[in-house]
Amino acid sequence: RPRDLFGSERRNSEGLAFGDRAAVEALCAGIARVTGPFAAKPIIDGREREGRTRPVLGPIDGASLGTVTEADAATAARAMDAAARGVSDWAAAPAETRAACLERTADAFAANRDTLLHLLRTEAGKTLDDALAEWREAIDFLRYYAAEGRKLFAAPLALPGPAGEANTLRLHGRGVFAAISPWNFPLAIFTGQIAAALMAGNAVVAKPAPQTPLVADLALRLLHGAGISVGALHLVPGGPEAGAALIGHPALAGVVFTGSTATARAINRALAARDGAILPLIAETGGINAMIVDATALPEQVADDVVTSAFRSAGQRCSALRLLLVQEDVAEGMIATIVGAARELRVGDPRELATDLGPVIDAEAKARLDAHIARMGREARTHLAETAPPGLYVAPHVFELERITDLCEEVFGPILHVVRYRSDELDRVVEKIRAGGYGLTLGIHSRIESTWTRIAAALPHGNSYVNRNMIGAVVGSQPFGGSGLSGTGPKAGGPHYLVRFATERTLTVNT
Ligand code: SER
Repeated sequence: RPRDLFGSERRNSEGLAFGDRAAVEALCAGIARVTGPFAAKPIIDGREREGRTRPVLGPIDGASLGTVTEADAATAARAMDAAARGVSDWAAAPAETRAACLERTADAFAANRDTLLHLLRTEAGKTLDDALAEWREAIDFLRYYAAEGRKLFAAPLALPGPAGEANTLRLHGRGVFAAISPWNFPLAIFTGQIAAALMAGNAVVAKPAPQTPLVADLALRLLHGAGISVGALHLVPGGPEAGAALIGHPALAGVVFTGSTATARAINRALAARDGAILPLIAETGGINAMIVDATALPEQVADDVVTSAFRSAGQRCSALRLLLVQEDVAEGMIATIVGAARELRVGDPRELATDLGPVIDAEAKARLDAHIARMGREARTHLAETAPPGLYVAPHVFELERITDLCEEVFGPILHVVRYRSDELDRVVEKIRAGGYGLTLGIHSRIESTWTRIAAALPHGNSYVNRNMIGAVVGSQPFGGSGLSGTGPKAGGPHYLVRFATERTLTVNT
């Protein structure tokens, strides 16, 4: 029987009813009033630093949105030095002070909604509902970690012992964390990593993805404005050179990273090669996420959930569906229904409300996806291959493969791969998914309870979803993160996340 952990006062942020035209129009008018240009710079001890500056070009049409000054290795090292100086004051602040700073940041994010949404749209190419969902998730992370942090850090835990002995367990920050975040959730994951590390009493040097420094810069200023000490939080926009300087710095006490499995491995190797303390890596990476659909599933619901899972956000979510496994008996009709629904999706400028899929993030991503589509065109059976508008747009594609093992890497875009299975092959299908080594999201569509309990029990996936879509994990309800090639855990937005950012110390007093 699951334990009920939802007894807290905290509630997630309110959504927007898209049917409420007046509210949507007011929101759009607010976003339209936001004007650039924006600038992101390294921020160390609250002061902007200079360096090599380049324009930030948005994925919608390549227009310049502003500039980013990137941190080189020396600047990144200076940020780590500053964090090492700032950490003890921050760690000594009461947990309540740290939690209150996060909650004030949540309020500041709410007050700056229009600018944050504008940046999520223009810099990351998000549709309005994706941008809103991400902005809400960022706020939810802030409030959730504040609430969890109060429980964990405000007072030590009294532990049993014999008469005359008092035992307590207290959590302490580890020191300086490097927080390395991705472009696909440039506000929510950027903020979530920082909030968790700070709440646990660490100082943070945050390196946002090179594609999305502008929204990160604003978020960081709002964190500082809400009272986070400038000595405890520093920003280093930049690329791999800055990242390597953080990982190699002697003051480093831990890394929180979201991005590719390959980069997580590289960070892990670099940490292992250091002398001195053994440092933790909290990594959330990708997956070849599968959905298994049996003959009892409801076709219209499957189609809706597949389209959402595979194509929403142009497939640029680590949770997105990549591999659909359909029982042979119903496959023909199921694929036709899915393809019919996917054909209706509108690809284009995400600033238009009717758009379902905005652009992919950059030219490199587009070239990689185009190459994969060309290869699938030769090697797979094509069910859907529409033409996208010019620019960084990729239309939804559906390809059918012979075998599960024909897809051996994560393809980060709106491309769905389908494999049929016979009903007597289900166990083999499950074994093949397990053998792939990823364990992030899993979808199951079946009306037979014993089918989904058996599949979910056999696979190590961090987030399994039955008879619904498999994206958009909600803070506090579906703590997010996987295992194996998909990450180290613990799960973001879950009750065990903050603990990994801390060390535990017991104190035993002979009274
Ligand atoms: N947390 C996000 C989701 O569940 C990550 O991709 O979709």
